[in-house]
Amino acid sequence: MTHNSHLIDNFGRKHDYLRISLTERCNLRCFYCMPEEGIEKRDKANFMTSEEVIGIAKTFVKMGIKKIRLTGGEPLIKKDIAHLLLELGKLPVELTITTNAVLVDRFINTFKLAGIKSVNVSLDSLDEKSFNNISRRSYFNKIKANIDLLLQHNFHLKLNVVVIKDLNEHEIPAFIEWSNAKNIHIRFIEFMPFDGNNWNWDKKVSFKEMLSIATSHFGTSQIEKIKDKENDTTRSYRLKGALGTFGIISSVTNPFCDTCNRIRLTADGKIKNCLFSQTETDLLTNYRKERNLEPLIREAILLKKEKHGGAKVLDDDFAKLRTNRSMIAIGG
Ligand code: GTP
Ligand code: 5AD
Ligand code: SF4
Repeated sequence: MTHNSHLIDNFGRKHDYLRISLTERCNLRCFYCMPEEGIEKRDKANFMTSEEVIGIAKTFVKMGIKKIRLTGGEPLIKKDIAHLLLELGKLPVELTITTNAVLVDRFINTFKLAGIKSVNVSLDSLDEKSFNNISRRSYFNKIKANIDLLLQHNFHLKLNVVVIKDLNEHEIPAFIEWSNAKNIHIRFIEFMPFDGNNWNWDKKVSFKEMLSIATSHFGTSQIEKIKDKENDTTRSYRLKGALGTFGIISSVTNPFCDTCNRIRLTADGKIKNCLFSQTETDLLTNYRKERNLEPLIREAILLKKEKHGGAKVLDDDFAKLRTNRSMIAIGG
């Protein structure tokens, strides 16, 4: 591959990580992700079929993508997901998935056949009632069992916990205890603003606050910093002697945009060059017209802003991001 084919933006960032959202639908209704009233159901024809996902993914791989993460909505509810996983598994990329784990037991073998080694699971509370409240459904026990199943089958397991003031911040120590006993990687995530999720600064628990909850519970001397990888969104730590780790994803107060290597493809086939970008590039329509996608992809990368899709954190701009798509329609 020539150097020229790499996806480099105007700030010198090389993009080799593609996040593909497979669907805007989900079997849960987490309030911070899915607006209460649900999202408008659009005609199926607006969304990529599995064959279209595969076709478009191949173009990205040709342009230097080395890692593909499948997201949603909930990716495992896509109709022919098993076939899609197996086909994507044939591409020369690291294939991974972010899921709510409700359906994971049905796909353990497919994951293995597709070469998936690492799975990210969302779980915001260790308390059944509280979790079911947050997700407005009753799958807590199923999810816990599926997390155990993933561990039994030796998947590298990262657990996403969106931390929200007065809701689950008090559970931070209990999650960290979990990483002490199991080879599990807990990530506490700052609550981010998206369309319909009523974000405001009062509901956010910052990186600093999360870390101080951890240190005041366990004692500074019991917590060690782990070296982060270059493109990690997570600042990682470990309780001394623990099997697993814990970390914090500080998208709001301490963004990691300078090392961003990510590009997103929405379920309706549009590029978002940033989680917070206000512009999108329609690939699906052009794919259906059999046009060359490469110049469009390159152009989308060149439009990428330095930080947070161009919005300034700590002022009103960030709140305006609520007019962005809702998280369910972006894919995290
Ligand atoms: P890996 O690093 O591949 O494990 O993935 P990840 O942690 O980025 O992916 P995951 O889907 O588990 O997302 C975890 C959290 O990170 C979610 O809240 C995402 O919205 C957030 N996140 C993922 N990518 C980005 C990004 O590019 N920018 C920002 N600001 N947040 C991101
Ligand atoms: N803020 C932060 N993280 C979010 N996620 C979904 N919505 C938000 C939000 N508003 C996370 C979920 C999921 C990941 C893909 O995105 O925890 O694990
Ligand atoms: Fe990348 Fe945008 Fe996320 Fe920053 S906010 S890390 S630029 S996707």
